[in-house]
Amino acid sequence: MTKKKYLITSALTYINGLPHIGHLAGAMLNADIYARYLRAKGEDVLFVGGTDVHGTKIEVAAEQEGISIKDYIKKYHDAHTKIYEGFNLSFDAYGNTDSDANKELTYRIFEGLRKNDFILEKTTKRPFCPDDNQFLADSQVGGTCPYCGYEKAKGDQCENCTKLLEPEELKNPYSTVSGSHNIVFQDTKNLFIRLDKMQEQITSWVESKKGIWTDIAYTTAQKWLKEGLQPRGITRDLKNGFTVPLDGYDEKVFYCWFDAPIGYIGITKEWADKDPANRHWEDWWLNPDAVWHTEFIGKDNIPFHSIIFPGMLFGSKEPWTQVSFLKATSWLNFIGGKISKSEHRGVFLDEALEEFPADYWRYWIPANSPESDDSVFGFDSFQALVNKDLNDVLGNFINRVLKMTHNNFGDLVPPLGSITDKEKTLFATLDDLIQKYTVQMDAIEFRKSLALLREIWTTGNNYIAQTEPWKVVKENKEYAGTILNIALNLIPLFAQLTSPIMPDTAEKMLAIFGKKPPFVWPTGKAQDLLQALKSGDTFTPAEPLFRKITDEEKKLLKQKHHEGV
Ligand code: 2FM
Ligand code: ZN
Repeated sequence: MTKKKYLITSALTYINGLPHIGHLAGAMLNADIYARYLRAKGEDVLFVGGTDVHGTKIEVAAEQEGISIKDYIKKYHDAHTKIYEGFNLSFDAYGNTDSDANKELTYRIFEGLRKNDFILEKTTKRPFCPDDNQFLADSQVGGTCPYCGYEKAKGDQCENCTKLLEPEELKNPYSTVSGSHNIVFQDTKNLFIRLDKMQEQITSWVESKKGIWTDIAYTTAQKWLKEGLQPRGITRDLKNGFTVPLDGYDEKVFYCWFDAPIGYIGITKEWADKDPANRHWEDWWLNPDAVWHTEFIGKDNIPFHSIIFPGMLFGSKEPWTQVSFLKATSWLNFIGGKISKSEHRGVFLDEALEEFPADYWRYWIPANSPESDDSVFGFDSFQALVNKDLNDVLGNFINRVLKMTHNNFGDLVPPLGSITDKEKTLFATLDDLIQKYTVQMDAIEFRKSLALLREIWTTGNNYIAQTEPWKVVKENKEYAGTILNIALNLIPLFAQLTSPIMPDTAEKMLAIFGKKPPFVWPTGKAQDLLQALKSGDTFTPAEPLFRKITDEEKKLLKQKHHEGV
């Protein structure tokens, strides 16, 4: 039997504006942690990500900046890329939705849908604003949600109740381009995907995901199915997108949500085309029996990933790899409200990297992952985690062990002599914690995983506190050497276990002993794992791995980011 392949996709971010910590929390960082974890376990992984560059938002943003759409895409795709590199996001295949490969695949899936009679042409009334002299895209129409009364709903979706909408459903519609309430609905012809004809197939497929997908993904999909699937528009009267290969559609493009999820496949194809002898995109995307596909998304993306994209793939009637596990998260907000550039509230990722190393963020975010509910970022909590967990627990343990060994044995690992019940207790505790941690990492439950990782680090401090090598060394140097041998060995073990979360830190921890990645996920008994360093191995006393955040610094950060305002 061929080895199982793990395909991991992370929602492709829109490039209008720069991403903030909510984007990292919603999809990208979780996906990266999972990819790193599986690679360390020796699994065959392909991690796909990138940017979403089509649609109105980008068209409008380019216009506002006074540059062409093409130049805008390049500028902001590059800016996003630089930020993701700064956060060590380890994409294997990375790109954007505007590639030739994606266009080819978009046309292929469209042709499949057409051939199989899942495409409908309909003349509908679309919102036109005479003051703006243009058709408005769904998201350019604002108004009140007819379902929940939210006043800032958009014509494509209500972000309050997640219901997908059509612009004409909004009450008190207005143009978000100019603010004008002068909206008329004019006839225009567009293409629709017949999701209504797939109701049964999608329903039974979604039902097979019960207990597998995250609850919010499953229940949102179910809610949508219960309301009954309707044909959904897949073309738009816009410029920024792929042209539609049909007569009469010269002035229209595919809707960005049609080619965006196909972008996962397009980005994979671009990656494969760079090394055709060794890489085959079909091994990942037309190989459903061998591939386990995990999609990481924010909760607003659920209908597209649980219903519409799967429907597109089913309807084209090729054996596509569908999503196996849909990991949807809620929002990471900021004390004071939603993260917002215009309100200068929140932490944007370019600033985040200027303020602290990537790993500080890479620790706080999954430790507070909005997994079951929204969560809130604030600098009190950030300071507490950095100062307590990173400095006092992990950093302090490493410093103390290196210093005590240096002072009593030089920069060499002392010999391992006979062990006592204290070591046996340490081994048993670690066996238990590593097993639990691995279970949570497999389940992609990162809040629980990080609590366990912290407990694992704490075993180091507890062991030192219980054995007191600084006292033992005076009367029994051999046992003191044994304690420090084991304590030193905890450092590379902790590095392996920390590596998916904080890869730079883990690398520095290995470098103390002249070791380098690749990281390997520990399997087997702690007692054996703690023999990687041998008596006489050397180490280099390291600079402290972390620094503390002062109260003064925290105060300034709160002001700068408008916390609580
Ligand atoms: O919500 C968003 O940011 C979309 N750009 C996500 C697209 S995910 C995938 F379909 F590309
Ligand atoms: Zn609503």
